Amino acid sequence: MIKIKERQQTIFDLVNTEADHQKKQEKQEPALEMELEQLKVNCLACQLCALRKGCTQVVFGDGDPQARLMLVGEGPGADEDRIGVPFVGKAGQLLDRILQAASIKRNEIYIANVVKCRPPGNRQPQQHEVDSCLPYLREQINLINPEIIVCLGNLALRTLLDSKATITHSRGKWHQIDGRRMIATFHPAALLRDPGKKKEVWADFKEIMKYYLRV
Ligand code: URA
Ligand code: URA
Repeated sequence: MIKIKERQQTIFDLVNTEADHQKKQEKQEPALEMELEQLKVNCLACQLCALRKGCTQVVFGDGDPQARLMLVGEGPGADEDRIGVPFVGKAGQLLDRILQAASIKRNEIYIANVVKCRPPGNRQPQQHEVDSCLPYLREQINLINPEIIVCLGNLALRTLLDSKATITHSRGKWHQIDGRRMIATFHPAALLRDPGKKKEVWADFKEIMKYYLRV
C-alpha cells in the first residue's frame, strides 16, 4: 500500500513539475519579448552619439526574438534609414537571395547591425559611435540568446570577434564565444562590388547550414 502511495506521489510530483515547467515556458516568451521591446524603446530614444541627429530613424533590428541564428551587419543604409528595417536595400535583397538559396527563412532568424543609426553618406561608423551603440547589440544578443551568430563584414567581425581580424583571413572559420558558435563572411555589399567573392560566401553559408539546419 505504502509503495503504491509513494508511487502516486512521485507521478503526481512529476505532473506538477511538468505543469510548472510549462508555465515557466509560457511566461518566458512574453517576458523576453517585453524585455526586447523595452530595449528597443530605450534604443529609439538614444542620443549617445551624433548619428541620431543625422538620420531619419533608429533601425533597431528585425526578426524572431526566439531565433537560433542571428546575423549582424554594419549599419543602416539609405533604404534602411527610410524604412526602419535592416537589410532591405540592394545588399539586403542579395542577402535575401543567399538566405533563400541556403533554405534559411528570414522570419525565423534575427537581423541587427552594429550601429543602429545611419552614418551620413554611408561612411564607416567611427569607433566612438560603435562603442556608444554596442551595449544595445550586446543586450540584443543576451536576450535573443542565439546559438549561432554570423558577422556580415569587417565591422561586425572586429566588433564581436577580434578587433584585429580581417574578413579575408577570418571568414569561414568557426569560433566559440560565450557558448555560441560565431562565423564571419563577406558583407553582401562587398559581394555586390565584387561578385568573385560568391564562392567564398556560399562556402561560408554551407557551414552555417550544417549547424543551423543540422544537415
Ligand atoms: N548594410 C548593413 O550593414 N546593414 C543594413 O542594414 C543594410 C546594409
Ligand atoms: N569586405 C567585407 O566583406 N566587409 C567589409 O566591411 C569590407 C570589405
